[in-house]
Amino acid sequence: MASARRPWFACTALGAVVLGALPAQGADAPAARPWMNRSLSPERRAELLEAAMTPDEALSLLHSDFPLMMKVRPPGALQSAGFIPGIPRLGVPDIRETDASLGVANAGRTEDHATPLPSGLALASTWNPEVAYDGGRMIGSEARQMGFNVMLAGGVNLVRDPRNGRNFEYVGEDPLLAGTMAGESIRGIQSNHIVSTTKHFVLNDQETGRHVLDAVIDPAALRESDLLAFQIAIERGQPGSVMCGYNKINGAYACENAAMFAALKGDWGWKGWAMSDWGAVHSPGAALAGLDQESGVQLDQEVFFGAPLKAAVAAGEIPAARVHEMARRVLWGLFAAGVMDHPVTVGALSPDPAHAAVARRAAEEGLVLLKNDGILPLAHGARRIALIGGHADAGVLSGGGSSQVIPAGSLRLPPPPGSPVWVAGMIYHPSSPMKAIQARAPQTEVTYDDGTIPERAAAAARGADIAVVFATQWTAEATDFPLTLPDSQDALIAAVAAANPHTIVVLETGGPVLTPWVDRIAGLVEAWYPGAEGGEAIAAVLFGEVDPSGRLPVTFPKSEAELPRPGLPGAGVAAPEGLDPKTQGPSFTVNYLEGADVGYRWYERTHAQPQFPFGYGLSYTRFRYSNLQVKGGPTLTVSFDVTNVGSRAGADVPQVYAAPGDRPHRLVGWRKVRLAPGQTERVTLAADPRLIADFDAAQPSWRVSAGPVDVHVGEFAGDAQLQATTRLEASRLKP
Ligand code: BGC
Repeated sequence: MASARRPWFACTALGAVVLGALPAQGADAPAARPWMNRSLSPERRAELLEAAMTPDEALSLLHSDFPLMMKVRPPGALQSAGFIPGIPRLGVPDIRETDASLGVANAGRTEDHATPLPSGLALASTWNPEVAYDGGRMIGSEARQMGFNVMLAGGVNLVRDPRNGRNFEYVGEDPLLAGTMAGESIRGIQSNHIVSTTKHFVLNDQETGRHVLDAVIDPAALRESDLLAFQIAIERGQPGSVMCGYNKINGAYACENAAMFAALKGDWGWKGWAMSDWGAVHSPGAALAGLDQESGVQLDQEVFFGAPLKAAVAAGEIPAARVHEMARRVLWGLFAAGVMDHPVTVGALSPDPAHAAVARRAAEEGLVLLKNDGILPLAHGARRIALIGGHADAGVLSGGGSSQVIPAGSLRLPPPPGSPVWVAGMIYHPSSPMKAIQARAPQTEVTYDDGTIPERAAAAARGADIAVVFATQWTAEATDFPLTLPDSQDALIAAVAAANPHTIVVLETGGPVLTPWVDRIAGLVEAWYPGAEGGEAIAAVLFGEVDPSGRLPVTFPKSEAELPRPGLPGAGVAAPEGLDPKTQGPSFTVNYLEGADVGYRWYERTHAQPQFPFGYGLSYTRFRYSNLQVKGGPTLTVSFDVTNVGSRAGADVPQVYAAPGDRPHRLVGWRKVRLAPGQTERVTLAADPRLIADFDAAQPSWRVSAGPVDVHVGEFAGDAQLQATTRLEASRLKP
């Protein structure tokens, strides 16, 4: 093989020299493909394979097409987000990329049978890494069955702004929770020998102006927050690829941001390939900063990582070695995930009840009971239950954009005016809460009113024993949303609650919403976008077949005035003709003044009381914590007992928060425990030292300072049912 190695990119007239083609006959024989030797490391295999490529073959790996936008799809491409033709003579398969974290997105295909998981926030609400892994494994297997070998999944942007239209794709506001859940989902996807990404690296934390905004933040605070979420997700999930976002970070575009790539590839030692988001590349120079692959070239002004990159190497502007490295990184990702050893074939997907069961468990564990005046679980003897609104007769809402999964049988409604033109509509997944409720209460008359006329809905509620309002907030990529429920649903809820004191509200929302009527209702359930079996999951929780064990992965504010940025940055900034009015236009700054004090830490810092705190959620039973022991030293170890002191079996999520020095408390661990009545379990948790450290940007490292650390054990952020103090020893950790 050594003789096939050539200094392609080192020669001045790049492309003029074509060396390295293997004799066609020998190329198919295993001996001629030493990179297929599985006993070698992925690095070595990538090195051997890249060395056998011609310059143009290597270059062909560095940019992907966007089949959805191509008039003629290349052979082997499916209608989807990304495609890179394979290199058959070397055994490199076609690379077929599909969105996204919640299932195999349709990308305009009809009659798909992919299984939609509940939203990312629902998954995060389970606080159960096993559910995230199982969900990833299930959607990855569907992607594989259809012939995809890269899933554009692993969204882990922190919820810094509850109005972000993509919060439903992400996993909450805390770096440990988000990183853990995203990492497990990635691990699950990749267990199918396909690549998962993690995205959108980094600080693509609002959609308004996403192509033009400059996210400004203190570099140390960034390490302690959004970057830490990525770092944890990458450590757990080992994704083959990381997708950089559209926005700028401290002045440089994410896909051209040398400082961000230095953290990712240098400090963290991650070996995969950085792919751009679709339309996020501005010049071939991005390669110098650390971008390895340009995605969806049809959205760029030119194929920057094609001829212009070649020319830049020939002109000596980009070292040839860098381009070799870019190709090797792509190959490393393919080898490490098993794509090369377990090639996919294109196939059809049929509905699979086992897959639906995975989605159902996630939905059941992710539902969060936020209020219960004793009305829940529902008794089976009601004479009449009035269901109101939210298309509860037909299905459950889902979020829009590139991640949209549309199983056959979904209800598709026109999106609100001003929505991005390319969204598929407001999609209701075909799992009817009404049918599921009726099935559990055969003797009860279950009625449905669409909720469009509050007086009519109130009349239906008045004649019933119990009223359940399904309140929805559709959110989507490429736009952001106010926290107030749309379509006057606050007035609808108020009218129904006035008519019937036994009113329950079930929310199907992309993220937190304002709940000004909460004191007037008897029960409140946050069901998020609950996916393929959402209706069943809602009914199972309402009737107490399942103990609600979801806990909020995000704070619910009382008003937008409490947020670090009460007004949404960039809102109302008009884009010139021809540009997308929501995401493009003149550049502006988003000042992340809260630094690492995201979400609940901001509330502690500002001494504000949210409507519902991070970590909050009720059960049908009660738990008590006792016998706290804390141990300091180089890190923090915490033990305590959890006892189910109620009369039903249930699951709890005790949470440990720590505050070194005078900083706000931060989540350092939790455990999901399932307990029979009277049962006790001892929980022991050791904190990742980075969570009790601060980041020293001057000498890049984590620094644990000697001194006291305050520890809380509680049911949510700010809840100190048990409290203790211990001392930490000073130490330094690699960045
Ligand atoms: C989104 C990505 C997605 C890509 C391909 C972009 O607009 O931001 O999350 O993976 O499109 O569909």
